[in-house]
Amino acid sequence: MNIIKLSATDSTNSYLKTRARTENLPNGTVVRAETQLKGRGQGTTSWVSQPGKNLAFSLYWKTSGLEASRQFDLSMSVSLAVRTVLSDLEIPEVSVKWPNDILSGSKKVCGILIENILSGPFVKYSIIGIGLNVNQDDFEDLPRAASLKMQTGKELDRDAVFMKLIREILRNLERFPQSEKDRSDLREEYESMLFARGVVSDFEDAAGNRFQGSIEGISSRGELVVNSKGLKRIFQFKEVTLLY
Ligand code: BTN
Repeated sequence: MNIIKLSATDSTNSYLKTRARTENLPNGTVVRAETQLKGRGQGTTSWVSQPGKNLAFSLYWKTSGLEASRQFDLSMSVSLAVRTVLSDLEIPEVSVKWPNDILSGSKKVCGILIENILSGPFVKYSIIGIGLNVNQDDFEDLPRAASLKMQTGKELDRDAVFMKLIREILRNLERFPQSEKDRSDLREEYESMLFARGVVSDFEDAAGNRFQGSIEGISSRGELVVNSKGLKRIFQFKEVTLLY
């Protein structure tokens, strides 16, 4: 396993992205940092984490023949790996909030940022970034965030959790489904883990309009399918927010 440990970097995703552009990195290269100076989240958000308390790492993964239109399949596979590890660690009520926040109860304990580099209609390689809140004791300005320690009352060995995560993510990526049937099994498994699925909830669309609906599932392109008053509404990332 090729694991690079850094005491500090701007962002492990940015670090790997830069190296992947100029070098022939071994597939599965992982970079882990104790401190990120400019940790990045989904879209334009940032990812802030107390140094020495949590996990921040990224994995370089070369895919073969994954259509760009199906890139969310990779994301589902990674979310499910994280969820498996957290459930094995007996973290309570683990679920996945679309597209790829990992929750314990209603608190976000892990964020995933996957950046796919495309070549024509295919994904050439992916930078899979994971930020897991492990032993941090409070998140002052983030009422919806928590760490594993806050959810269980127990401090965890970060190195052990890191190795479990890497192994499980690689295991899922190595058996990444090639056939349509296996892909729909993956989607079903992901859907079964979805936070608020089938529960009438409040949403806000990109125009700021609020509406009620319940999550039905995920389209083959990774869009969120919401049933609102009998109508099927389909949303891409950032087009809708679940209010909870
Ligand atoms: C999110 O929830 O918005 C995604 C957060 C992803 C954070 C991780 S920490 C390791 C990797 N490097 C980054 O800059 N971001 C990801």
